[in-house]
Amino acid sequence: MKDKTILITGANDGIGRATAERLAGWGAHLVLACRDEVKAQLTAQAITEKTGNQNIDTLPLDLASFSSIRAAADEFLAEHPKLDVLINNAGCYTDSLELTEDGYELQFGVNHLGHFLLTMALMPAIRCCRLCSRVINVSSALHKKSGLDFGSFKGEHGPKAYNGSKHYAQSKLANVLFTMELDRRFGEELTTNCLHPGVVGTRLANKKAGTLTSAVWSMYKPFAITPMKGADTSVYLAASPEVKDVSGRYFDENQCLQKPSSIARNEQLARRLWEYSEQAVAGFLREEA
Ligand SMILES: NC(=O)c1ccc[n+]([C@@H]2O[C@H](COP(=O)([O-])OP(=O)(O)OC[C@H]3O[C@@H](n4cnc5c(N)ncnc54)[C@H](OP(=O)(O)O)[C@@H]3O)[C@@H](O)[C@H]2O)c1
Repeated sequence: MKDKTILITGANDGIGRATAERLAGWGAHLVLACRDEVKAQLTAQAITEKTGNQNIDTLPLDLASFSSIRAAADEFLAEHPKLDVLINNAGCYTDSLELTEDGYELQFGVNHLGHFLLTMALMPAIRCCRLCSRVINVSSALHKKSGLDFGSFKGEHGPKAYNGSKHYAQSKLANVLFTMELDRRFGEELTTNCLHPGVVGTRLANKKAGTLTSAVWSMYKPFAITPMKGADTSVYLAASPEVKDVSGRYFDENQCLQKPSSIARNEQLARRLWEYSEQAVAGFLREEA
C-alpha cells in the first residue's frame, strides 16, 4: 500500500480510526478527513507513534456543511494529484430532528448527501488512478429496515413525528443506492462497494442520541465487536487484490458478498436519488463530475 493515497472520513474515532490505523501499518499515505481538527491531529500523531508511518495528513471536513466539503475537496485537489481509495466512513445517529447548514435532515445530510458531494468533488483525483481507484461506502444492515421518503429529506414531517432510527436506516439505504448508481455511472473508471461493518462497540449512539438510546447502546456495547474487528471489511475492500475488479456490491462484516434489500437494488429509485442529490449539491459542483 506504500504508493497509495487513502482518504477516510470520520477517521478520528470508532471504525474510521481503526481503519486508518490498520492501513497506516501497511505504509499507505493517509488523509484523515475530520470535523474536529484537533482530534484529527492527535489521532494522526497516535497512529504515527503506533505504526511508525509518518505519512499521515489531516483535512478539515464537516459533512453537515456543503461549503466545508467543497473547501476540503479543493484543499485535497491542490495538494494531491491522485486518490487511490476514498472511504466514506463518517456517520452520525440522532433521535431528534436537526438540520444541516444547508437545510437537510442531519442523518440524510451527513451520512448520504455530504459523502455524495465529497465523492463528486474528488472525482478529478479519483480519475487520475485510471481504473484502479476504489470508493468504499460504509452502510449498515439497518438499510433493510427502510424505504426512501423523498418528502422527509429536509425534515418536512417536523420534530414531533421524527423517528431517529428510521432516518438513520434511510440514510444507510441511501449509501447502498449511491454505491449501485455510482457503479452504473462510473464503473468504467473506478470500483465502488459498500458494506455492513457488524455491530461495533463505538460511540455512534452516545454522541447525539437521546438518553434512553444512549443508555441502551452503552449496555449493549460489551457484546458488540471491537472497532478493530469492525474495520475488517473496510480494510479488505480498500486493500485486497481479491476485490480489485469487483464493483457495485454489498459486503457483510465477514467480507462475504450479500444481497442488499430489494429496495436497495431498485435501479429507478437509485437514479431518482442520484438526480435529487445532484440537484441538492449543484451549487457546489464544478465540471469535474
Ligand atoms: N457502530 C456500529 O455498530 C455500526 C453499524 C453499522 C454501520 N456503522 C457505520 O459505521 C460508520 C462509522 O461509525 P462508528 O460506529 O465508528 O461511529 P463513531 O465512532 O461515532 O465514528 C463516526 C465518525 O464520523 C464522524 N462524523 C460525524 N458527523 C460528522 C460530520 N458532520 N462531519 C464529519 N465527520 C463526522 C465522527 O466525528 P467525531 O469524532 O467528531 O464525532 C466520527 O469520526 C458510520 O457510517 C456508521 O453509520 C456503524
